[in-house]
Amino acid sequence: MSRRVYLDHNASTPVHPEVLAAMLPYFAEVYGNPSSIHAFGREAREGMDLARERVASFLKVSSQEIVFTSGGTESDNFAVKGLAWARGKGHLITSQVEHHAVIRACRALEAQGFDLTCVGVDEFGMVDPDDVRRAIRPDTVAISIMHANSEVGTIQPIEAIGRIAREHGIPLHVDAVQTFGKLPLDVDALGIDALSFSAHKIYGPKGVAGLFIRKGSKMVAVQHGGEHERRRRAGTENVAGIVGLGKAVEIRARDMHTEAERVTALRDRLWDGVRSRVPEVRLSGHPGHRLPGTASFLFRHVESESIVLGLDLKGIGVSAGSACTSGNVEPSHVLVAMGVPLEWAMGAVRCSLGRSTSAEDIDYVIECVEPLVRKLRQAMPVGVV
Ligand SMILES: Cc1ncc(COP(=O)(O)O)c(C=O)c1O
Repeated sequence: MSRRVYLDHNASTPVHPEVLAAMLPYFAEVYGNPSSIHAFGREAREGMDLARERVASFLKVSSQEIVFTSGGTESDNFAVKGLAWARGKGHLITSQVEHHAVIRACRALEAQGFDLTCVGVDEFGMVDPDDVRRAIRPDTVAISIMHANSEVGTIQPIEAIGRIAREHGIPLHVDAVQTFGKLPLDVDALGIDALSFSAHKIYGPKGVAGLFIRKGSKMVAVQHGGEHERRRRAGTENVAGIVGLGKAVEIRARDMHTEAERVTALRDRLWDGVRSRVPEVRLSGHPGHRLPGTASFLFRHVESESIVLGLDLKGIGVSAGSACTSGNVEPSHVLVAMGVPLEWAMGAVRCSLGRSTSAEDIDYVIECVEPLVRKLRQAMPVGVV
């Protein structure tokens, strides 16, 4: 079989074999409804309780502060809308580089009458905490800033933003979907009141995630129905998925530090290899404060999608940072906010490394990138952009 290299771990990850083994009994053997009081239900609840404890212990919080959801997207919507609706009206602060799950939830609230400030970022995609401070108004009801950006990998100065939020008594939500299980997370030290995380970014299953909600936080439910999750999120829980999430975070807590070192070295090998062979290429995002396994390249005067498709033909899976819509190349909102010129932004390609990535994979990718980019540049019409 021809070689296959998956470098799209920020999009999703394969389920870890130990996670799958932990989940399997919860489909056909332990199938009770965790809300039922009989033994069948209690067995399901025990599995879920253990998962909740594992997540809570990773975040160093109480298990009562963890609510399970159907995905990072739901967690983000829940946090932003739950905090805003609990206050009825007022002003929200977020950044221009958030995931759409946060930005569009904020825009939906804006359409309902909330005021919104989206603070900008610098050329590295970093929010300036002083911009957050300056944006605060007497009626500011919530701040939502992500921990690390999924596209460019920049890690935001959450501790400083958390301090500012606390000084003003404003709740801080952090979308940690890209850092949960990859970096240590201390919600007290960082001053976080609500934190979104998702299983499928850390070798858990898709469609299961959670939200940490600090005890005593004023937040209303967004999904109504039964009494599940201490009345904070209605709906029978995805027990097998939650068990998988718990196992995934337990494994990550064990392997996170060695894995971060390993993928950082491979990421640097990839960047060094690409830049030594390909002219006119840059690394986007912050040079130091970045996710261990994320390398986002900007290839000048090439279209992202052509690179992604060209690499796909070689069995390599990466993702594009710009999209071609009706004949025009549109860079992502993150690159636009960073002020990346179009001639560079149009060639944005993200490689995100993970557990299975080897040095041989990286060398193979470097080998494939150079001739592909050269060929695509030669085919580009003269005077483009
Ligand atoms: C930063 C960030 N937030 C939220 C999400 C959405 O998570 P999910 O895919 O679990 O809905 C993602 C997924 O890519 C993400 O990277």
